[in-house]
Amino acid sequence: MRRVLLIVLLAGLAAVGGFFAWASRHPAIAPLAGPPEASRFDAKLVEKGKLLAAMGYCAVCHTRADGPPLAGGVKLPTPFGAIYSTNITPDPETGIGRWSEAAFRRAMHEGLDREGRHLYPAFPYDHFTRVSDEDIGAIYAYLMTQKPARYAAPANELGFPFGIRALLAGWKLLFFEAGRYVADPKRDAAWNRGAYLAEGLGHCGSCHTPRNAFGALRKDAKFAGAVIEGWRGIALDADSPAPVKWTAEAMTNYLLDGRDPKHGIAAGPMTPVVDLLADQSDDDIAGLASYVLSFQAAKRDDTAAAIAFAEERQLVNTPGAPAPAMDAALQPGHAIFMRACVSCHRKGEKYTPLALTSVLNDADPRNAVQITLQGLRPPRASRGFTMPAHAWMSDKELADLLRFLRGHFTRKAPWPDLERTVHEVRTGKAH
Ligand code: HEC
Ligand code: HEC
Ligand code: HEC
Repeated sequence: MRRVLLIVLLAGLAAVGGFFAWASRHPAIAPLAGPPEASRFDAKLVEKGKLLAAMGYCAVCHTRADGPPLAGGVKLPTPFGAIYSTNITPDPETGIGRWSEAAFRRAMHEGLDREGRHLYPAFPYDHFTRVSDEDIGAIYAYLMTQKPARYAAPANELGFPFGIRALLAGWKLLFFEAGRYVADPKRDAAWNRGAYLAEGLGHCGSCHTPRNAFGALRKDAKFAGAVIEGWRGIALDADSPAPVKWTAEAMTNYLLDGRDPKHGIAAGPMTPVVDLLADQSDDDIAGLASYVLSFQAAKRDDTAAAIAFAEERQLVNTPGAPAPAMDAALQPGHAIFMRACVSCHRKGEKYTPLALTSVLNDADPRNAVQITLQGLRPPRASRGFTMPAHAWMSDKELADLLRFLRGHFTRKAPWPDLERTVHEVRTGKAH
């Protein structure tokens, strides 16, 4: 039913979009003969552009595993089908080597390619539109001084009618607000710097803010949590599931080291983000923390109780020790935990107690499923915090285990329908 409704709505949108596309065609910007000479760019500007490109995770989406840097071809799953990132090296044929700075700026600010075609918002120009001309100039200098690579990305795999780029004109009319970041004079410099980075290059909202049926970010739910690539971009607003209230210090640790002792570790799509944040300046990270925390001000602080509960629930790794009293439904999972997990997740070990993690306290079990299945590839700054994959477990065993984790390490309501979630995550259907 929802799908039918969506198609009817989209047909309407297509009509509006078609008209709007006709009414507002965008001109091509003249191609350059070839990429500008690298020597044209000041080394300091290139260096600045490199850090800014890291802040925008360009390489995360534009470099495929084993492919040349920035040459594109990364497959991005969306609810509408798969979109492939393009080549942004200075190769004149398959990359952006013939793009002037004006054409590049227009792509970042308005989501149009050099020839004037609409780009899909899988390229987060809904955020990059907030970035200053000056910063975009630095990123341009950085990209144009990288090694060109000849490679053309595969065609997108979008079902009808999503494959029609002209439709995006209607989408933009309804949902896209172009414009640079405007500082809020009521806030201090750190907050404004953080807002500029989070709303612009850092595009934190693209994974932490839910989208409407048309894939546009919901303004009424900023940082309320979202699903991305089969993971949950955990809520960063007052609904944050973190049992210990985030402080500026803890958030700075998390963003720079990829983990904080009272919150746990970054996993899944957050890992490349923290790996790139690790190189940013302390001031920029403090700014990000200040901005994000301003959305959690209303959250209650139950830190002392949460730490006492976590301590009480830690298990010991003593063979034959009597199991703590627990509901019969949790016992099969407890047995699996004692076999597969307690050697690391136990009292006295240096790891974050499981009871303190947002992953187990979140209403959505999918990150816990992902982490248990895949294990952890630790962030660059927290080497050594590795965890093996447990993909050999059956869906039933995983569901039992997760029921136990939730029941024993949190005071939250049980996760419903665990076996289905486990199956969907395992088969890649959970996005
Ligand atoms: C979340 C993934 C993602 C991130 C992060 C990202 N891009 Fe992209 N980008 C894409 C996708 C997907 C496309 C293709 C869009 C399309 O085909 O409509 C694209 C297209 C582009 C284009 C248009 C190229 C062309 O040939 O039409 C440019 C320019 C670009 N990106 C630059 C950047 C820069 C610079 C950064 C970092 C500041 C960046 N992108 C970060 C996903 C991303
Ligand atoms: C590509 C998607 C993506 C982007 C971009 C992203 N995040 Fe995340 N973030 C996630 C996911 C997924 C998690 C959950 C990770 C886990 O379970 O360990 C997460 C977790 C977090 C957490 C931990 C929350 C908790 O309670 O445990 C914080 C804090 C955070 N992100 C902040 C940010 C900030 C700030 C930015 C922008 C600079 C950002 N994220 C950008 C996907 C993303
Ligand atoms: C070889 C050691 C090891 C084993 C075995 C292990 N883990 Fe982990 N696990 C880790 C480490 C290291 C972390 C990160 C801890 C930290 O940041 O302090 C972690 C973190 C986690 C997290 C929380 C992620 C977060 O947000 O911080 C979950 C959930 C988890 N493990 C579940 C399991 C389950 C379930 C099992 C058994 C099937 C298991 N682990 C077995 C090492 C292990």
